[in-house]
Amino acid sequence: MAVVITIDGPSGAGKGTICQLVARKLGYHLLDSGALYRLTALAAQNQSVDFSDEVALAAVAASLDVVFKPAESGVKVVLAGEDVSRAIRQEVVGMNASKVAVCQKVRDALLQRQRDFQQSPGLVADGRDMGTTVFPDAEVKVFLTASAEERAQRRVLQLEQSGQAADYDQILLDIEARDKQDTERTSSPLK
Ligand code: DC
Repeated sequence: MAVVITIDGPSGAGKGTICQLVARKLGYHLLDSGALYRLTALAAQNQSVDFSDEVALAAVAASLDVVFKPAESGVKVVLAGEDVSRAIRQEVVGMNASKVAVCQKVRDALLQRQRDFQQSPGLVADGRDMGTTVFPDAEVKVFLTASAEERAQRRVLQLEQSGQAADYDQILLDIEARDKQDTERTSSPLK
């Protein structure tokens, strides 16, 4: 089996940037597992699926028509033929992703799709449960974190640099709510 490096941690810790750099340097594949939860949330939003309907959410996750295309700026995410690379990064999609991620049926529906990324010569996997659940036998497991204040500050900078309005206090509250949801859920919590 191909080598796996897992990098888990809370949102905004810098996992995405580091995973991209490591994957590029080693010539490994890259799995952004958060994108799969974001895509499930976005597709559910678009299809007006009720977020409390676990069976419907799992069906959305199982039928995601997604392609990850290597691009200069990282990876282009195409959902049902539409480039959603920017859309899935919206704050509301992140919050909804955290909600759908609580659902065990959604996690089960996405499990094999994530494991399929383990291909030669190796994989760098970014997420919350990469080292604990998806790739428990990974050769290297990293837990990357930073204080909620530091992560909120970085998110503000990121939004401002892309020309979007950013409210530090609101972002900090959202980050704290998301941390709580991601660490306290029963299914594959962030550890
Ligand atoms: O890493 P991210 O912010 O793109 O992830 C969005 C949400 O998806 C996150 O709040 C929790 C969920 N997620 C998860 O439950 N398990 C993963 N392996 C990755 C993300």
